[in-house]
Amino acid sequence: MADAIQKNKLFTQWPQERILVAPSLLAARYDRLAEEVAAVEKAGAEVLHLDIMDGHFVPNLSFGADLVKALRPASEMLFDVHLMITDPIKYAPRFRAAGADHITFHVEVLEDSAKVIDAIHALGCTAGISLRPATPVEAVLPYLDKVEMVLVMTVEPGFGGQSFHGEQLPKIQKLRAAIDAIGKPIRLEVDGGIAKESAALVRQSGADVLVAGSSVFRAKDGDYKNAIDVLR
Ligand code: DX5
Ligand code: ZN
Repeated sequence: MADAIQKNKLFTQWPQERILVAPSLLAARYDRLAEEVAAVEKAGAEVLHLDIMDGHFVPNLSFGADLVKALRPASEMLFDVHLMITDPIKYAPRFRAAGADHITFHVEVLEDSAKVIDAIHALGCTAGISLRPATPVEAVLPYLDKVEMVLVMTVEPGFGGQSFHGEQLPKIQKLRAAIDAIGKPIRLEVDGGIAKESAALVRQSGADVLVAGSSVFRAKDGDYKNAIDVLR
């Protein structure tokens, strides 16, 4: 396994001009996950997005730390774990032990966000804070200078393959302005319904990490390289 800190430079270097693409494993073929991971890496993805759902914070279940651990040897990509769970402090260490480089949690969970951020940093991971479509941008602003990433959900979290919510664009623009005002390396990630057209809109609004499930793993003719290239 490559050194986590080295890989996390993708999130912590400044200026962050490079657009990163993070295929979401949720849309991969579950009967050949290791091959799918190797294929998106070969196609140019720098980051692998891993969606963790607990059936409480979101009305769906996905997979746990054991699966992340099993896939770790298959890839040198930065493992970007998106915790859609009510108890991030309890489970973050298990994902770190499984090979997570970065961990994002949701501001809407009941725990004190500052405490969650500290807990993630104490594990040696970069930390991200995410907000659902209905959550106002003000909810994350107090934590912006403490995290390495903000994740704007451009669909309601819980399922892949949904349509992009264009009304989230002003939120992305506000966060871009706030990050630039802070002047520190904070990545602005978007997740949900990202395909060619929505990718252009979120890039123009200032996003620099694009999560893409269906548009990559369900690409026409299985051409992952083209699918990733058109998003940048
Ligand atoms: C949704 C997940 C997303 C999902 C995106 O709750 O957080 O990462 O996999 O899938 P697409 O790109 O298909 O909308
Ligand atoms: Zn996600």
